Amino acid sequence: MKKLEGKVAIITGGVSGIGAATARLFAEEGAKLVLVDINEEKGQAFVEELNEAGHSEVLFVKADVANEADVKNIFDQTKEKFGSLDILFNNAGIGEVQPSHEVTFERFQQIVSIDLNAVFALSQIAIRDFFLEQGAGVIVNTASMYGWVGAAGSAAYNAAKGGVINLTRSLGVEYGEQNIRVNALCPGYIDTPIIPEDYKQVLKDTMPMKRLGTSEEMAKAVLFLASEDSSYMTGASITIDGGFTAQ
Ligand SMILES: NC(=O)c1ccc[n+]([C@@H]2O[C@H](COP(=O)([O-])OP(=O)(O)OC[C@H]3O[C@@H](n4cnc5c(N)ncnc54)[C@H](O)[C@@H]3O)[C@@H](O)[C@H]2O)c1
Repeated sequence: MKKLEGKVAIITGGVSGIGAATARLFAEEGAKLVLVDINEEKGQAFVEELNEAGHSEVLFVKADVANEADVKNIFDQTKEKFGSLDILFNNAGIGEVQPSHEVTFERFQQIVSIDLNAVFALSQIAIRDFFLEQGAGVIVNTASMYGWVGAAGSAAYNAAKGGVINLTRSLGVEYGEQNIRVNALCPGYIDTPIIPEDYKQVLKDTMPMKRLGTSEEMAKAVLFLASEDSSYMTGASITIDGGFTAQ
């Protein structure tokens, strides 16, 4: 029996890295997918890849998760195409390294808008317009190990990811009784396009396991959080970081 047979899942940042690996795994487990990303070219190519692999129930929606009208459109299109929603994977994110005294306030706000505010905005619509009515729903958020610990040069990112961890707790507590589960994944350094190529070796050396994680290793944890395998789990954040925060 497939773990997500017939389930409808929205995956933001769903055409690259952790989101794309999760999309492949969810599709193999029988889910119907709404892939959301700001990168249309990559989105169309990825839908073709999934179709060629035999997964036809896939919709791509070009959207900036920090834009209110785009966010509304994601849910309108989901309703039109599939009629329901079971899983929301809030995974889109950006990060960059710049000394805090040099970052403009506008850039700080942009990063927080994408990495934190959008997680709330999408969760609110999923809960209000789908999950409460259905009496069930699952939200998985991608936080980061930098939601637990600090690091120089990425204050906005770290603040946002710390916010995602406590947003996850808060929504988990608020909607537990309504059978809506909300959990988060806190990855360590994962080998995706978000990390500049020339920086990867430096990061490997900081890891107890001396390698970066893979998107596929993250996708397995997302599947756990999105499926009945984690049926008694809510408000929690799982850290999968090759031992980084254990140091
Ligand atoms: N790779 C890592 O080391 C690492 C570690 C911890 C957390 N994370 C988090 O994992 C998530 C996925 O990142 P990834 O590593 O797979 O990187 P990635 O760059 O491969 O994927 C991120 C995707 O999000 C999309 N995106 C960015 N801004 C968007 C916006 N405003 N609206 C819609 N889509 C947008 C990008 O186009 C991209 O396709 C992010 O939230 C990131 O912060 C990554």
